[in-house]
Amino acid sequence: MDRDENFINDRVCGMLQDFLAETLAKMETQGLRRTLRPIDGAQDRVVTVDGKTYLNFCSNDYLGLANDERIKQAAIAAIKEEGFGAGAARLVCGNFASHRRLEEELACFKKTPRCLVFGSGYAANVGIISSLYGKDDVIFSDRLNHASIVDGIILSRAQLWRYPHNDMVALEERLKSASGFRKKLIVTDTVFSMDGDLAPLDRITALAKQYDCAVMVDEAHALGVLGEQGRGAVEHFMLEGKIDIQMGTLSKAAGGLGAYCCGSTELAEFLINKARSFIYTTALPPSVAATACMALKIIQNEPQRRARLWENARYFSQELRRLGFDTMASVTPIIPILVKDTKVAMSLSRQLFERGILVAAIRPPTVPEGRARLRVTVTAAHTREDFDTALEKIKTAGKTLCLI
Ligand SMILES: Cc1ncc(COP(=O)(O)O)c(C=O)c1O
Repeated sequence: MDRDENFINDRVCGMLQDFLAETLAKMETQGLRRTLRPIDGAQDRVVTVDGKTYLNFCSNDYLGLANDERIKQAAIAAIKEEGFGAGAARLVCGNFASHRRLEEELACFKKTPRCLVFGSGYAANVGIISSLYGKDDVIFSDRLNHASIVDGIILSRAQLWRYPHNDMVALEERLKSASGFRKKLIVTDTVFSMDGDLAPLDRITALAKQYDCAVMVDEAHALGVLGEQGRGAVEHFMLEGKIDIQMGTLSKAAGGLGAYCCGSTELAEFLINKARSFIYTTALPPSVAATACMALKIIQNEPQRRARLWENARYFSQELRRLGFDTMASVTPIIPILVKDTKVAMSLSRQLFERGILVAAIRPPTVPEGRARLRVTVTAAHTREDFDTALEKIKTAGKTLCLI
């Protein structure tokens, strides 16, 4: 049947229809309207869009595991054993062997007594923060923390005291003036997702200790990437045993989906009982948990992937800087090319797409006004040839747009 013939009604109620049309038109004029791009086939260093291949510089698949044969086989084996759908929430009848194994392995890997797995990083942040904190509490949050952290704080109804990005003087001022609260929390991304810089975790934990404050970290872009063993920024800063709440995702370097919260036994038990985004949602398909177990094994057994990732990140950022681009304070495989103007960032991304390079423009509200950029991500799977091809095209497009 023709798709259009199948529509019953392509309009919603009058006022809502006007609101939708006006909002979309406004976003279009401002260059802020987002659209979905179809990817065919697998996630890899090269992807196919509408039958044409592109060098992919916008995936968070840092270790090149999303399409790894061993990961795929782990999923297939688990599907044969445990089926596909979990059928219910973990607390009902969705607590499969693969979930339990993943939690045991993650707790062991992160050297914490317990771990609880969530359906996604977004769900984890929202559920952890909103269940642990409430209206009598205060949360100190870096201005560039991920949206899911901000949403968790809003949902918690705790007071949100933002501090300027990585500004420890400002954080201390806020800590000093916070009195009368029942509980206090400092929460931070460890690798900032849009800037690629690191939170000064050593200084944050020292301040937390001084002002009797708990610390929560989001290791979404650090698991598998930072630390000799890939345990993240907590390992990198040698702070194991000193962070109260360690959250991270299985959707980036681990190549799959899901997230974890590692910490004490009481913390895990509390979240099982109180975190609404854990309780009121269907469990991850057990095969997804099984793939995360395989990814953890690879992260630990193949340090050469991490070495390759860092070698690639260093090469690409150094060459971009040499060409005259502003890559901000990035020190990780997330390399922003600061453009500032939203329309110029969109134009740069479009020109690169026309030349076979896939790299996303990041605009407000994801980044502050006047800080639009291309967000280049480098993976262990990229080759020197990939970088040199991309650099040539970025240089040409950058010159056309007077960026260098
Ligand atoms: C820092 C950070 N935290 C949390 C998330 C959410 O994770 P997920 O994509 O697994 O929902 C992301 C990315 O999407 C992120 O960059």
